[in-house]
Amino acid sequence: MTPNRLPRDETDLVVPAPLSGRTAVVTGGSGGIGSAIVRALAGQGASVAVVDTDGRAEAVAEEVGGVPVIADLTEAGAPARIVDRVLARTGSIDMLVNAAGIQVRTPAVDIAAEDWDRLLSVNLTGAYRLVQAATKALAAAGGSIVNIVSLSADRAVAGIVPYGATKAGLVQLTRGLAVELGPLGIRANAVAPGYVTTPMTAAVLDQPEFRDRVLSRIPLGRLAESGDVADVVAFLVSDAARYVTGAVLPVDGGYSIT
Ligand SMILES: NC(=O)c1ccc[n+]([C@@H]2O[C@H](COP(=O)([O-])OP(=O)(O)OC[C@H]3O[C@@H](n4cnc5c(N)ncnc54)[C@H](O)[C@@H]3O)[C@@H](O)[C@H]2O)c1
Repeated sequence: MTPNRLPRDETDLVVPAPLSGRTAVVTGGSGGIGSAIVRALAGQGASVAVVDTDGRAEAVAEEVGGVPVIADLTEAGAPARIVDRVLARTGSIDMLVNAAGIQVRTPAVDIAAEDWDRLLSVNLTGAYRLVQAATKALAAAGGSIVNIVSLSADRAVAGIVPYGATKAGLVQLTRGLAVELGPLGIRANAVAPGYVTTPMTAAVLDQPEFRDRVLSRIPLGRLAESGDVADVVAFLVSDAARYVTGAVLPVDGGYSIT
């Protein structure tokens, strides 16, 4: 096909990156999916604050010229400290991606009290409290929230029932935030990844029987890569998704429809 016109010179080809001039906060930013989100958003021009519990956050932030924030989301002062540090370094928070999460594999009735508390505290309360701390900045920016949930939020998956309960809570929190924060100009959406090989899932996906069973139910015929999830997050925080809020988008190769 012949283009309508030829570029005049090289500068004519340069289009601004869609997220340039904007700041993203990504929790769990050193993890499998979180670090892919950091790279995807930085690749689209965003400044990215990489929030995680240890020094890996520094390495990921350095890779993309971002801001490392070493913090445990379950600690009382952490959300306010994260927001203050990011605002001091970048002046705004336009995007908040809650990707930090933990999983405990055990029959529901056997879970230790401290494991139950920790699951809720990282996967649900941690995300909620950071949203609370960042709402003023997000409203000033006309910003957007993306929470990373899971197919186990609305499917009963034996062995990770308490995890699924925390993700179901996060789905409903996302919808509620969309309703309450929409009038402030803030969108809130969730992404539900299928099976992605990361440190969280390696132990089960490395078992050939488990892996084959999962693969047999995925119409697209492969497990997800972290980048598959990250690109959808980048879409949801972008202007292309400006009229999308309260959505829970599966990124699962079709697993959830089989
Ligand atoms: N891997 C999958 O197949 C899959 C599927 C569905 C949903 N998810 C979700 O995607 C998100 C990312 O998971 P992943 O697979 O990349 O796992 P991961 O273990 O590689 O990453 C999780 C990250 O969260 C961080 N984190 C944990 N507790 C924290 C705390 N208290 N404060 C700050 N950071 C903390 C960890 O240090 C880690 O870097 C999680 O919310 C997970 O539940 C993963």
